[in-house]
Amino acid sequence: MDGRVIGHIAFSPVTISDGTPNWYGLGPVSVLPEHQRKGIGKALIEEGLSRLRDMNAQGCCLVGHPDYYRKFGFTNLPELVHGGVPPEFFFALSFDGHTPQGTVTFHEGFRADGQQEGVREA
Ligand SMILES: CC(C)(COP(=O)(O)OP(=O)(O)OC[C@H]1O[C@@H](n2cnc3c(N)ncnc32)[C@H](O)[C@@H]1OP(=O)(O)O)[C@@H](O)C(=O)NCCC(=O)NCCS
Repeated sequence: MDGRVIGHIAFSPVTISDGTPNWYGLGPVSVLPEHQRKGIGKALIEEGLSRLRDMNAQGCCLVGHPDYYRKFGFTNLPELVHGGVPPEFFFALSFDGHTPQGTVTFHEGFRADGQQEGVREA
């Protein structure tokens, strides 16, 4: 807006241990505090999900606040887990009706310490 970035959303490919392909992770999403509660976050999420569908993505998942993402169709799927994240904070939305079962690993870009999954110290 007026040459200033006021909101941002990122999507990145994830891998699922059962081999289900073409799933993506949503996040982070952010809107400048003075522009929040005007529908910008909602527009970013809806447009992003629409573009994923246009790419023939099969689903999207995220770690997020339990109250915010349900209105976009995300639900907690007990069969789909991510690390030590409590199930009520991990959300998924299947675009094709298939429900994957397994563990989700986000893109390695999220591992800021640069270490391999599974060898990181607890
Ligand atoms: C989360 C965030 C992106 C929402 O952006 P926003 O532009 O303020 O959200 P919107 O105005 O589009 O709101 C969309 C809907 O969510 C609701 N909502 C907004 N913020 C909410 C919150 N903190 N808790 C619960 N509901 C919320 C709105 O009431 C609206 O509901 P409606 O469609 O029924 O009217 C923004 O608050 C933010 O940047 N927060 C800090 C960063 C963050 O926590 N990001 C998420 C994790 S990466």
